[in-house]
Amino acid sequence: MSAPSSSWVSRLLLTRFRSYAEASLEAGPEPVVLTGPNGAGKTNILEALSLLSPGRGLRSATYREMEREGDLPGWAVAARLTGRTGQSDVGTGTTADARDRRQFRIDGSPATSADLLATVNVLWLTPSMDRLFVEGATSRRKFFDRMVLALYPEHAGHVARYEAAMRERGRLLAEERGADPVWLSALERKMAEHGVAVAAARRDALGALQRLIDLKDLGGGAGAASPFPNAILALEGEVEARLTTEKALDVEDWMVETLSQRRGPDRMAGRAGFGVHRTDLVVTHAPKSMLASRCSTGEQKALLIGLVLAQTRLVAELTGYWPLLLLDEIAAHLDGRRRDALFDILMSMGVQAWMTGTDADVFVGLKGHAQLWTIDAGKPLRLAF
Ligand SMILES: Nc1ncnc2c1ncn2[C@@H]1O[C@H](COP(=O)(O)OP(=O)(O)OP(=O)(O)O)[C@@H](O)[C@H]1O
Ligand SMILES: [Mg+2]
Repeated sequence: MSAPSSSWVSRLLLTRFRSYAEASLEAGPEPVVLTGPNGAGKTNILEALSLLSPGRGLRSATYREMEREGDLPGWAVAARLTGRTGQSDVGTGTTADARDRRQFRIDGSPATSADLLATVNVLWLTPSMDRLFVEGATSRRKFFDRMVLALYPEHAGHVARYEAAMRERGRLLAEERGADPVWLSALERKMAEHGVAVAAARRDALGALQRLIDLKDLGGGAGAASPFPNAILALEGEVEARLTTEKALDVEDWMVETLSQRRGPDRMAGRAGFGVHRTDLVVTHAPKSMLASRCSTGEQKALLIGLVLAQTRLVAELTGYWPLLLLDEIAAHLDGRRRDALFDILMSMGVQAWMTGTDADVFVGLKGHAQLWTIDAGKPLRLAF
């Protein structure tokens, strides 16, 4: 197989986005390092880049929170992007009339988030994900689903339609005078159809990721001393489990049946207690055979970085293009050995990784292989490196 091509942003323009009234930045395909003091606006730039993928970006914020405080409503992020469809100008943002829904444009024409997915994939790692293995299942599921949809672009649509049907079912169940059973059955059938598609894509993606982790030495060795230890992954979900032994259509019927039997308890609880919205990703530190949630803070971080690197590699292998990789404050909590190992891996990958840090010194290992920027009084400035 030929080496993956890089996808990269050559120009980024922010308008009334977070702390930026107007800011622009130009880049080559190599990794980009953004430095500057606390509050300079580094993470805001990564957040803007994360909006080049569907969803609410790396802070899971509302679109109103992204509007620049004290300025006119609405915001825009524009990028010149080289990706799967060649070079294109991608724009996304909200307007004063529609502040809660963002729109997309590609090369001047209206587009959808699915069109964007066909152009580029974006993966990220932020300090708030340090608690990924000890928090509730939601953030782990979202983290994993982000990679799944890089491999199966339809995944986003299935998740959205599953959730829409589930919300509608919840609303109907909550109605005082009792819900129309025919309408409820139709919604449960919808949940089952999309739910099985979601679960199947997750299973396939998990299998592919695990094979890649087992095969490749991504973290400089699979032993306990390797900087980014291998993970053993498992999906904990009833629907995913059923798909191991039964055909998709049978699982779908079983889901319909189960949902219809659970109407009473779900009405009482005010939410659906069964379905693919409850699936969890269980991660084990392979060299130690220890659940990630029981590993030390540093071990968890190393495991997480290893996992993101594996996801990055998998997206590249399966799509032929590197994703954009956003690594917020990545170097800060790594010891020198891990930092150097990470930089070596990134340089060997040909990925446009966007990294932030308060201090430029820790990025010295990337000298000559990365572009260095600092953010000064709200303006990104290119520095010699
Ligand atoms: N909607 C908004 N409008 C205006 N300013 C905002 C908005 N949201 C966040 N900010 C401000 O943007 C500034 C930069 O935030 P950002 O998180 O990008 O900083 P940072 O450079 O990553 O800092 P740190 O090193 O502490 O992580 C902060 O001072 C924050 O208060
Ligand atoms: Mg920050």
